[in-house]
Amino acid sequence: MTDLLQRIADLQAEARTALSRVQTLAELEQFRNVYLARRGKIPTLLRTVKDLPSDERRPVGAAANTLRRGLEAEYLAARARLRARGVRPFDVTVPGRKPVLGHLHPLTIVRRDIEEVFLGMGFEILDGPEVEEPRYNFDLLNVPLEHPARDLMDTFWLTDGRLLRTHTSAAQARVMANRTPPFRILIPGRVFRHEATDATHESTFSQFEGLYVDEGVSLADLKGVLGEALQRIVHQRVDIRFRPSYFPFVEPGVEVDISCLSRRGSHRDCRVCKGTGWVEILGAGMIHPVVLQNVAVDSTRYRGFAFGGSIDRLAMLRYRLTDIRLFWSGDPNFLEQF
Ligand code: PHE
Repeated sequence: MTDLLQRIADLQAEARTALSRVQTLAELEQFRNVYLARRGKIPTLLRTVKDLPSDERRPVGAAANTLRRGLEAEYLAARARLRARGVRPFDVTVPGRKPVLGHLHPLTIVRRDIEEVFLGMGFEILDGPEVEEPRYNFDLLNVPLEHPARDLMDTFWLTDGRLLRTHTSAAQARVMANRTPPFRILIPGRVFRHEATDATHESTFSQFEGLYVDEGVSLADLKGVLGEALQRIVHQRVDIRFRPSYFPFVEPGVEVDISCLSRRGSHRDCRVCKGTGWVEILGAGMIHPVVLQNVAVDSTRYRGFAFGGSIDRLAMLRYRLTDIRLFWSGDPNFLEQF
């Protein structure tokens, strides 16, 4: 009998040591399996009690039961302790985690602003295909076959003879060929040029094309509309000036400058206007009578103006950017600033 009582005492010491080493709930369950579960050491010992001689049964049974109840209690206490450790107290003052929200691309923001301004002036917004027929991109626009813009260096040609439009004027020709005047239309969209890229040139950029065809439309209307629209687009008072220029589809043709938006006063070392105080923003002019004839608009009755500018360039001015390539870079460090 002393043998048995000694075994119980040893088992108790062993179990206590094992329990003191337990660090995790998984280890605690392991402990329970070894000592307290149905096939564990203690229940197994208890099952042998009934086979003992009657005078040993009571003291051995009592000692084994005490051990079992003691370990059971220590097991439950350890379990409660370990579970409580896993739960962090709820702190209502911890700031919430902000979900990352997407937003519009800077070119989209500027395009929508431009659309808004021209909508407000009675223009319709239209769309045209990016893959275009040479007839709309060049021929109807009075761009002759030998014009350098048609060169492989400037135009992305498709194997089927079509091309990626090099300007939104292609959509201008398309619209005029399918409409009867009067109309006031704005066509924003992507254009493509087969050129080396640098800080101010991209092979893909976006333009907005405007046209206004009606009886008695004059260059003065062009100046009035653009002067008003550009101020609204850049959100400040600007001066506007026309410089004579050449585009095959307009006559007269002009380049449109706005006064430099950069700091007031001297622009001597200004990077935006390069010291001139003016920034070129658009090509424009009165639609060439030949173009009107090409698209079957009666040029004796109707006249119109057209203008085309780069959305990328306006966005660069507005956000004071110096590298056009950032727009298509997909770089989150850039995009997250808007
Ligand atoms: N299409 C010309 C360009 O891409 C711009 C332009 C449009 C000029 C309409 C005159 C009239 O440079």
